[in-house]
Amino acid sequence: MPTTIKVEIKRQATPDTAPFTEKFEIPYRPGMNITSLLGEIALNPVDVSGKPTTAITYDSNCLEEICGSCAMLINGKARMACSALVENLEQPIKIEPLSKFPLVRDLQVDRSVLFENLMRVKAWVPVDGTYDLGSGPRVFPQQQEANYPLSNCISCTCCMEVCPQFNEATGFVGAATIAQVKLFNNHPTGKVFKEERLRALAGDGGIQECGYAQNCVEACPKQIPLTNAISDVGRDVVVQKIKDFLRG
Ligand code: SF4
Ligand code: SF4
Ligand code: FES
Repeated sequence: MPTTIKVEIKRQATPDTAPFTEKFEIPYRPGMNITSLLGEIALNPVDVSGKPTTAITYDSNCLEEICGSCAMLINGKARMACSALVENLEQPIKIEPLSKFPLVRDLQVDRSVLFENLMRVKAWVPVDGTYDLGSGPRVFPQQQEANYPLSNCISCTCCMEVCPQFNEATGFVGAATIAQVKLFNNHPTGKVFKEERLRALAGDGGIQECGYAQNCVEACPKQIPLTNAISDVGRDVVVQKIKDFLRG
């Protein structure tokens, strides 16, 4: 491993100013990941030519691939900065913000569209209240095993970044939202909203926008079975459409 790491970072001060690339050379430390590398730059913000600059803006929180906040393009791949080990990356390491979301500054983007989509499909179990609800319904182990992988979503939006159908023209909700529909429709209490969730995916921007290219499942850092979820929910949406048609 070389003693220094060469890195090129795409920066942009505001959404309305022109982007530019800044190059750095950072001393290598064993076990270094992209988040720690960005931290090193923050400690001593000087570019490769020795010119002082500013710390890079980026999101991060848990540093263990749980919070989903540090997604960015690293050597062209949508992935989590905190789990991207420098020693496994080709140099110069190229770091850019996710491209499908409004830019805030440098590597920070606004991914609130995912949370709006989750609200659109009521991706929650409706148990809020100030009174004692008693114990929840029994969930058998087989069902728990089926649901657990879906519950691992960290809302990182990597699946949306790589999806050819996730763009302004389609308004597609994306794979993560569809997988959460499956999770909450499978839940004995959560399924009270099953029909509403399926109807929310039946219209424009819904599940029919998916071209089944499977980029999403390859990009997901949590190995969530996204394409299975899309197939299952797609079938349920069709059944719901037929039921609604027959009900008139
Ligand atoms: S299967 Fe393809 S089109 Fe469908 S959500 Fe995944 S990446 Fe997008
Ligand atoms: S489904 Fe996977 S890639 Fe998509 S937001 Fe959830 S964890 Fe990230
Ligand atoms: S900092 Fe939480 S996933 Fe990377």
